[in-house]
Amino acid sequence: MTKIAVFASGNGTNLQAIIDAVRRGGLAASIELVVCDRPGAYCLTRAREAGIPYFMFYPRKYPSKAAYEELILQQLTEAGVEYIVLAGYMRIIGLTLLNAYPQRIINIHPSLLPSFPGRDAIGQALDAGVPLTGVTIHYVDEGIDTGPTIAQRPVFIDPGESRESLEQKIHAVEHELYPQVLQEIFTQRRVFNA
Ligand code: GAR
Repeated sequence: MTKIAVFASGNGTNLQAIIDAVRRGGLAASIELVVCDRPGAYCLTRAREAGIPYFMFYPRKYPSKAAYEELILQQLTEAGVEYIVLAGYMRIIGLTLLNAYPQRIINIHPSLLPSFPGRDAIGQALDAGVPLTGVTIHYVDEGIDTGPTIAQRPVFIDPGESRESLEQKIHAVEHELYPQVLQEIFTQRRVFNA
């Protein structure tokens, strides 16, 4: 059983998909901790309802990224966390966590990277008028959505499609793909040469 921490900043639908996959036995992991940087984010309610301990912090109360990441690292170490899974965590991971978890931090991003990195990837794709976007799962490095790719899935954009509709389609793909790929990584059924 792989011990993981899920980092989230918002609604937490991907966190929920991971919780549900663990519950139904589709993901051989145990979620030891949820880490969240936004008070009142719904991902915290999801953690509470699932009985998962969480760590909520106010980034602005710390002098630096290294300062709050030290604190997070302490909690991860105490909980024996092996992998960090980013699920809508809207902060760049710093060297403190990157060095402690080499090739052990995974992110999901709502575009076919390297297209549309950073914030609002769905809005970026709509603004660009492209007919195709998608979902990328990748290892995290020090850049913004630049780490080695693990898996990608395309999502077609219909002419005149609304943001809401595209968001729904992307989320549906994410919720299926993320637990599945995590399971492949944890059970080493697929080896990723990152
Ligand atoms: C997801 O679509 C995820 O891919 C995206 O944030 C959303 C979080 O939704 N992540 C990024 O944009 C990271 N650069 P959720 O809180 O409902 O899981």
